[in-house]
Amino acid sequence: MGIGEVIRAAGVGEVVASRCDAYAVGDVVTTLSGFQEYSIVKDDLFTTVIPGVVDQLAMLSVYGSTGATAYFGMTDIGQPQAGETVVVSAAAGATGSLAGQIAKIAGAHVVGIAGGPEKCRVVVEDFGFDSCIDYQAGDLKAALKEHCPKRVDVYFDNVGGPILDAVLGRLAQKARVALCGVISSYLTGDHPGPANYVNLLAKSARMQGFNTLDQWGRFEEAFGHLKQWEAEGRLVHREQVFEGVASSVDALNGLFTGANIGKTVVKVGEPTPA
Ligand SMILES: NC(=O)c1ccc[n+]([C@@H]2O[C@H](COP(=O)([O-])OP(=O)(O)OC[C@H]3O[C@@H](n4cnc5c(N)ncnc54)[C@H](OP(=O)(O)O)[C@@H]3O)[C@@H](O)[C@H]2O)c1
Repeated sequence: MGIGEVIRAAGVGEVVASRCDAYAVGDVVTTLSGFQEYSIVKDDLFTTVIPGVVDQLAMLSVYGSTGATAYFGMTDIGQPQAGETVVVSAAAGATGSLAGQIAKIAGAHVVGIAGGPEKCRVVVEDFGFDSCIDYQAGDLKAALKEHCPKRVDVYFDNVGGPILDAVLGRLAQKARVALCGVISSYLTGDHPGPANYVNLLAKSARMQGFNTLDQWGRFEEAFGHLKQWEAEGRLVHREQVFEGVASSVDALNGLFTGANIGKTVVKVGEPTPA
């Protein structure tokens, strides 16, 4: 990253000055703001006015690209069926916590994978998963066998690496694997191949990656379902808020050290007083 470049991030902000008809001063918009207090945005499909009273935190998590990622990855690729076993990694995180709940709503038996006993407790007690494996506690292969006695029909993968490999080793016949992210190797850039990919062949299974932004035109469909599920009390979301631009370093690092539960949000400015 060069001097003057801005770290990319989705944001919610208030319009304080406008030279285009699409946005009036005082409008609240979702946009690709980056980590900055003021940003100049164009009238394009990535900048959307939010009408009415706005829960800004929810707009950044469950009704933002995070909710859409969980929705499209789970429903389009995972396609969980009632009674099937679904596994979700980074299950206490922003995307994973929602993805697992969407699978529960579909009637599946949902098993999370997360780092540490406290996160596993939150995944089960707060996010309503059926159980959760602490991958830091030891033998993941044995734990998957114990938690998924009927093998794994759907795997929503946020992490890649050894966890992906272990779950591939436990796939059921005609399983679906949704490749959402590979956070275990973003810092190194070294993506080890999963030896257990041969199970895709042996189990007639499918593994598919996806980019949520490809589905931008379908976001209303996603938010329609997510809003309904939340209103019915079947979908909960959590956000962890950091204060100030300077805190963005800790906020970002927390995604890699696993410090976060739910969506990480950095508050970089105060709303303009009415
Ligand atoms: N495909 C798409 O369009 C799309 C869109 C948005 C995000 N994503 C991807 O979705 C994934 C989740 O993103 P998010 O924003 O929701 O983050 P998040 O899950 O809230 O936070 C990341 C979590 O990853 C886990 N983690 C970090 N390093 C790990 C490692 N070496 N091994 C195992 N787990 C590790 C940590 O949880 P533990 O403490 O449990 O380890 C951490 O809390 C990322 O891979 C991201 O790139 C994809």
